[in-house]
Amino acid sequence: MRPRLQGLELRPLTSDDERFIAMLSRRAFVRYAHRPVRTVLDLIEAKDSDTFVAHLDDLPVGFAVVRLEDHLDYGPVAQPQLAHLDAIAVETMLRRRGVGRALLAHAEEHARRAGALAMFLMTASNNERARHLFAAADYQPYGGFGGAYRGRHHGVLLTKVLRTDRAAAPALRA
Ligand SMILES: CC(C)(COP(=O)(O)OP(=O)(O)OC[C@H]1O[C@@H](n2cnc3c(N)ncnc32)[C@H](O)[C@@H]1OP(=O)(O)O)[C@@H](O)C(=O)NCCC(=O)NCCS
Repeated sequence: MRPRLQGLELRPLTSDDERFIAMLSRRAFVRYAHRPVRTVLDLIEAKDSDTFVAHLDDLPVGFAVVRLEDHLDYGPVAQPQLAHLDAIAVETMLRRRGVGRALLAHAEEHARRAGALAMFLMTASNNERARHLFAAADYQPYGGFGGAYRGRHHGVLLTKVLRTDRAAAPALRA
């Protein structure tokens, strides 16, 4: 394990982060998306989407995009809210130092506080680093998506329950 970074700060996205996001998205996602920057900007601008940027010494080093979504009634739960991790990336030089884990935990906490019952995401089946990150954070596979990515890479659908307490479902139907 590489030494963890001290002094990492997680902040909401500001316009100052735009160049960084574009630069990192181009490098981090070019293998999986034909237009990685446009794809990530669309995700950031999507309805009910929030982006968090990890800073080290005031410099951006990673980001995560999380989106909340209301769903139809499910069993006894009325209109459960679910969260989707739409993107996560860390500067190449700072990988394996705990930034991805911190961003993921922050995105989960944000979703939990907003009342989301579970987080969902998709990653490429051959994206070993991402699969290790999500496995280490207790994400479980629940399906696959053939040819979901550029180059016909397959997608793996993963999920994690965020809340199981009754407060998680304030709208439990009688
Ligand atoms: C996936 C990504 C965000 C991980 O970020 P990171 O900052 O390197 O991750 P962390 O250092 O927090 O790692 C957390 C855990 O994930 C696992 N992990 C991360 N990278 C790994 C690797 N290269 N090999 C094995 N395990 C790895 C480990 O369990 C690690 O914990 P440990 O270091 O205590 O063993 C980063 O590799 C990245 O930006 N990749 C390109 C973009 C991408 O593929 N995003 C995912 C799309 S869904």
